[in-house]
Amino acid sequence: MSSSPDVPRYTVPSLTPAEGAQTAAILQERLHSLNDLHLTLKHVHWNVVGPHFIAVHEMLDPQVDAVRLMVDEIAERIATLGVAPVGTPGALVAARTWDDYALGRASTIEHLGALDEVYEGVIAAHRRAAADTEVLDVVTNDLLIGHLRQLEQFHWFVRAHLESTGGALSTAGASTELGAARDALDGQ
Ligand SMILES: [Fe+2]
Repeated sequence: MSSSPDVPRYTVPSLTPAEGAQTAAILQERLHSLNDLHLTLKHVHWNVVGPHFIAVHEMLDPQVDAVRLMVDEIAERIATLGVAPVGTPGALVAARTWDDYALGRASTIEHLGALDEVYEGVIAAHRRAAADTEVLDVVTNDLLIGHLRQLEQFHWFVRAHLESTGGALSTAGASTELGAARDALDGQ
């Protein structure tokens, strides 16, 4: 048996401890990502101003609640695999590969443009994690796919505000939150 702290003493039946550790490591990244996402969604909930304030303000709270539940499921799956989930802010900031959300007080349309970019990144990474667990652990794969169903619906809620009647997205060419916020404002 390995003495590495990363390999659990036990894991779920039919996985080796090394496979449990590998699955937990994939999940730990998703735990940081979705912890960041629900905090960011609350930040936006507090900082939107202007026309459509109440619609966007109130649209976001069910998303915060749903993402919090996803975080809990991920953390408890990590523990089930025999590994300790890490949910502290310092560990999140040290591990993350992305910057803090770029906007403070701003109009609803600018925040929605930036959120389009946020969801784009989170969902792409969640899909990669789902693909990486497809063979490794089907139960974790199923968990992540369940999250994706909801996350992609929330992304659509955001994008529906940025879409023309012809179906084009105002943020289509953007690659940063500030760029997407500008494009969304210009596209009004
Ligand atoms: Fe609130």
